[in-house]
Amino acid sequence: MAGESRDKPVVLAVDDNDVNLMLIEAILTSTGTEVVLAHSGEEALAKAAQLDPDVILLDVMMPGIDGFETARRLKSDPATSLIPVVMVTALDEVQDRIRALEAGADDFLAKPVEIGELRARVKTLVQVKAYHEHMRDYQKKLEAEVEAKTRSLREATERIREAALETIMRLSAAAEYRDEETGLHIQRMSLYAAAIARRLGLPEERVRLIQAAAPMHDIGKIGIPDRILLKPGPLDDGEWAVMRQHPRIGAGILDHSDAAVIRLGEVIARCHHEKWDGSGYPRGLKGEEIPLEGRIVAVADVFDALTSSRPYRLEPFSPLDKVHAMMIEGRGKHFDPAVLDAFLAIPDTIREIMERVKDPVPPPQAP
Ligand SMILES: [Fe+2]
Repeated sequence: MAGESRDKPVVLAVDDNDVNLMLIEAILTSTGTEVVLAHSGEEALAKAAQLDPDVILLDVMMPGIDGFETARRLKSDPATSLIPVVMVTALDEVQDRIRALEAGADDFLAKPVEIGELRARVKTLVQVKAYHEHMRDYQKKLEAEVEAKTRSLREATERIREAALETIMRLSAAAEYRDEETGLHIQRMSLYAAAIARRLGLPEERVRLIQAAAPMHDIGKIGIPDRILLKPGPLDDGEWAVMRQHPRIGAGILDHSDAAVIRLGEVIARCHHEKWDGSGYPRGLKGEEIPLEGRIVAVADVFDALTSSRPYRLEPFSPLDKVHAMMIEGRGKHFDPAVLDAFLAIPDTIREIMERVKDPVPPPQAP
């Protein structure tokens, strides 16, 4: 019955004495109040929970659960705690009133009950209860609205985040399109990089950031002329010098961003060709001077180059153990030993990524 609107207020009168109950019933019924009677504390608790009365008039001295204990239980149950409780008592000792207040009584009425006073108290307390219920319902409504708004805000933020990451992936693929049409290299490479980072024990948030930023590593190739980028044969010294500009060009494109993923993309673009022994480019950084993300992407990038079927790479389908052997050759030279070891420790994960993000089989060549 809680929360339903009612034609008339409901008062639960509790007394072990039938005469008292009949008196209260007579007084209140004549004012349009519905009176429900209970003869004990136990009956009062059951009816209060069932009927959600607007006011409870509670006798103190009753066999079984007395008025104090009944009030205490009513007030400690969330289902009945908002119902105003009036102790109807002949006791006028201060100590008894304190006990009643401690038990949670909201008001007192002295026995014998005076008609005008009883009606006035009940009327006031019915309004108090209605006000409390209104506030409770209003608060629940507000909480539900806040929760719904928070949820939709969270969903919108997640959609924006996904769109931003997809944009990075697609723009990076666009930058690679001239020499790698499928965009699968950057997908595989970023998954390898994330797997290595996870194996190294980096926090999941950083792992995800690396995965999102790694696709931007070669974005600077956009500034390399076709005659060099797409040259079928080996590059001469001058052409290599131009090719080696792509980390700087990429870093320049991504520079000065407020977004963490773009800032990391800049670091990766700038550092993915640095080598552990200092022989890399563009700055010849050495060891831990190279940001960890750059060292991770270096391993992922070279591995994918060795195992994918891009025409200008080494033999396209080198067996995995041969590729591993080639990479181990670079341990402590090209690659950070710890990063390479992390990579070598997760062959199943790496193989699963290779299989899942496989390049399409090229169409047979015309004779
Ligand atoms: Fe590169």
